[in-house]
Amino acid sequence: MQVSWQSLYDEIFACEKCELCRRIHNKVPGQGNVHAKLMFIGEGPGADEDMQGLAFVGAAGQLLTKMIAAMKLEREDVYICNIVKCRPPQNRTPLPEEAAACLPFLRQQVALVRPRVIVLLGATAARTLLREDFRITREHGKWVEKKGVWFMPTYHPAALLRDESKKREAWNDLKLVMEKLKDLEAQENGGFEGV
Ligand code: URA
Repeated sequence: MQVSWQSLYDEIFACEKCELCRRIHNKVPGQGNVHAKLMFIGEGPGADEDMQGLAFVGAAGQLLTKMIAAMKLEREDVYICNIVKCRPPQNRTPLPEEAAACLPFLRQQVALVRPRVIVLLGATAARTLLREDFRITREHGKWVEKKGVWFMPTYHPAALLRDESKKREAWNDLKLVMEKLKDLEAQENGGFEGV
């Protein structure tokens, strides 16, 4: 059932389905353009996100902003959220059961935004949404289509901050995303079919 943004956010703020909510300052539901064609999904809030209640506002978020700008877009053009809405202690990877408990919220966000393309930032997003044994190093940059939505797994910006040599590969992945958005837009506008 499709819920409204208000009831979805109310549900997220009231959620106690796993232990993560016990030690947080703020829930971090996600933010951005609710009509975006492009959505970014990370892993979970870090310390800055937990303090501000906003996704990707710390160091990784600043790099994500630059990545979005390199795509000739602004943060206001896209929707940004995470697999889990509460910060895991010491920024550990969310447990599969924590990700599973939070997944209905993400599904509702996707249903409401209806993006054409989703960039999965890092292994946790790819493992939760594509395949539990997904290997980001080996399998990033390859499209997966599900029900008309195109998923592009790539490196998490935090991984790019740790290892700058991965930036070129990540940029190649994002260029594929730019091409796909252009192709989808051309299709929507009739393209050259039947000319
Ligand atoms: N890392 C994430 O995966 N998400 C954020 O919001 C911030 C850092």
